[in-house]
Amino acid sequence: MSSQTIPVEPFDYVVFGGTGDLSERKLLPALYHRQIAGQLSEPTRIIGASRAALDDKSFREFAAEALSRHLREGEHDAQEVDRFLNRLHYVSVDARSDRGWDDMAKLLSSGEAQVRAFYLAVSPSIFGDICGQIRSHGLMTENTRIVVEKPIGRDLASAQVLNDTIGQAFSEDEIFRIDHYLGKETVQNLMALRFANALYEPLWNSAHIDHIQITVAESVGLEGRTTYYDRAGALRDMVQNHMLQLLCLVAMEAPPSADAEAVRDEKLKVLRALSPIDGENAAMRTVRGQYRAGASVGGAVDGYLEELGDENSTTETFVAIKAEIENWRWAGVPFYLRTGKRMAERVSEIVINFKPIPHSIFDKSAGHVIANQLVIRLQPGEGVKQWIMIKDPGPGGMRLRHVPLDMSFAESFGVRNPDAYERLLMDVIRCNQTLFMRRDEVEAAWQWIDPILTAWEESEQPCHGYTAGTSGPAQAIALIERDGRTWHESH
Ligand code: BG6
Repeated sequence: MSSQTIPVEPFDYVVFGGTGDLSERKLLPALYHRQIAGQLSEPTRIIGASRAALDDKSFREFAAEALSRHLREGEHDAQEVDRFLNRLHYVSVDARSDRGWDDMAKLLSSGEAQVRAFYLAVSPSIFGDICGQIRSHGLMTENTRIVVEKPIGRDLASAQVLNDTIGQAFSEDEIFRIDHYLGKETVQNLMALRFANALYEPLWNSAHIDHIQITVAESVGLEGRTTYYDRAGALRDMVQNHMLQLLCLVAMEAPPSADAEAVRDEKLKVLRALSPIDGENAAMRTVRGQYRAGASVGGAVDGYLEELGDENSTTETFVAIKAEIENWRWAGVPFYLRTGKRMAERVSEIVINFKPIPHSIFDKSAGHVIANQLVIRLQPGEGVKQWIMIKDPGPGGMRLRHVPLDMSFAESFGVRNPDAYERLLMDVIRCNQTLFMRRDEVEAAWQWIDPILTAWEESEQPCHGYTAGTSGPAQAIALIERDGRTWHESH
């Protein structure tokens, strides 16, 4: 067991959608890793639930297959896998009828004393049914939580309905809304970087920062999620949640503590201070894009429309936004956000661009003085680079050079970065909501997104084509270059 791992209380995790994609790719492997780390106490159980007519044995076979497919080399330990599979149980339930719920109640009754978590890895359209069944079958104990996955609505009104529905069965302190970006190692490092160092905070404002860029580029396309994605698009899928959460962590005031309410109060203030983007300014402040056929990491790929099989879709697979925060700290500092599928490479980073020096004492032969940049790389290759100017080493007079102070976390610490879900699943058991979205945050985010969606719809804002494997449409480059700035090229 790693010396840093603190075991959690024994629990029963009931995963609705237990045989689904999320359970297979993320939840089961994450729980297995937590077992290996020594974090699970006995008698912890993981209970798969779905409509499918499986039993414990076939669910264990499903899980064994999931582990062999999704664990990396060297992570598969036959004995540990056996121990893990023995924790698994399965109940076939129907959210919309009473079928199976008595079986669930019976199984859970042998774990009355332990933490109980219900994970809804299912379509939001049945969240209400499941919550209702949990309540009417008396499955809640003093120590119960519910975990919900996005999408939490497709606009403010539907998010409110969903939140009301869940809220009828569970109180806010029992509801864990997952944004898996908050569980990523470097995202949390952002908190450490800002609030465990005296160095940056005095500079972290409009007096010293010129602008900030947040990029979440993916090289993958639809990955088979055609129906969901075509109804959502990049703004709903990535910006409303992940990108705005990143923006909040970069821009928020220092909370008085790392306590869940303290952190979420500060994030909420940022969301509420976002300058509105609507019919007046959406055309200037936002760019929509959709990929066309091109080349990706693995070779030639189809365009979005071919992948979707619908030549009329106008759903955006790329979005760039110039956002502004209206408060004392950030007035006049643009936050350029961009995210897209089928881009040149998978890279997520936050770039803090400091202001240039006010006056150079060096003559022309020394070369340009380039403004400092802090590059926080979320993935892949998590780390932080602080770009500074130094004198080019050696003789030959004063020549300036732009170099990174480079901290790659994997190289420096040689540890495996846990998947975001590992941390988040355990935080649910520990009942720590810091890394989960509170209802008012989700709704404030929609409140900012809704007018953008309306403006796009009403003005029929075009979706510009970009070739798969590139960095998005030319209009996104123009969005930032109009302001005399350029997108950061990762290197
Ligand atoms: C999900 C989106 O929330 O995040 C996906 O629905 C996206 O479309 C994914 O691919 C990206 O997550 P990650 O962890 O791979 O950056």
